[in-house]
Amino acid sequence: EPDGTLLGKHILVTAGPTHEPIDPVRYIANRSSGKQGFAIAAAAARAGARVTLVAGPVHLPTPAGVERINVQTAREMMAAVEAALPADAAIMVAAVADWRAADAADQKIKKDGSGQPAPLALAENPDILATLGHHAQRPALLIGFAAETQRIAEHAQAKLAKKGADWIVANDVSGDVMGGDSNAVQIVTTAGIESWPAMAKEDVALRLIEKVADALSV
Ligand code: C5P
Repeated sequence: EPDGTLLGKHILVTAGPTHEPIDPVRYIANRSSGKQGFAIAAAAARAGARVTLVAGPVHLPTPAGVERINVQTAREMMAAVEAALPADAAIMVAAVADWRAADAADQKIKKDGSGQPAPLALAENPDILATLGHHAQRPALLIGFAAETQRIAEHAQAKLAKKGADWIVANDVSGDVMGGDSNAVQIVTTAGIESWPAMAKEDVALRLIEKVADALSV
């Protein structure tokens, strides 16, 4: 079934959460499973693309024909993405942590007996999608994801402009999408909004990759 619609193209995908260390045994993370991003990487490879998958810490097998680069933190993901350029399309599916601990401790943080919790100062992480959106080697097609729990399309429209992306794939994560097997998405572009019915994450991936192949062939 490989259809060759992406032959000769390089597709860059990010997937999964990031883990931001607080000390050697603790980290900040989120509920992203990586399933949607891995399904997209798999579909792109089946369509004949060369695929680089920059993956946060998840327990998923590497899809056939995909070059996988494992990272832990947002800053490592940023560096791996930049090192993978140029790409014809970049699909940023990862749920990157917005903040990291400002100063990760070298040793396990102990209770000091005062009854006061240790302070946790945060620093902002790089925005990988927005960095690519304004990059000298910006991919011809740049796609972001937006996990929202309210006013989904409206937030996605604003995100397109702010991030310099071409499409935002918006999904409602107020249910059990994170970690679940199906997804209902809206594809938001400057041309308008397409709403797709709920379907398996593999089917979202196939349909999205068809749309990517169409966009790259014109
Ligand atoms: O702003 P928000 O986090 O909702 O944007 C989500 C989109 O931006 C996703 O495509 C995600 O992969 C990307 N993103 C990123 N780097 C960040 C935060 C989000 O690439 N630090």
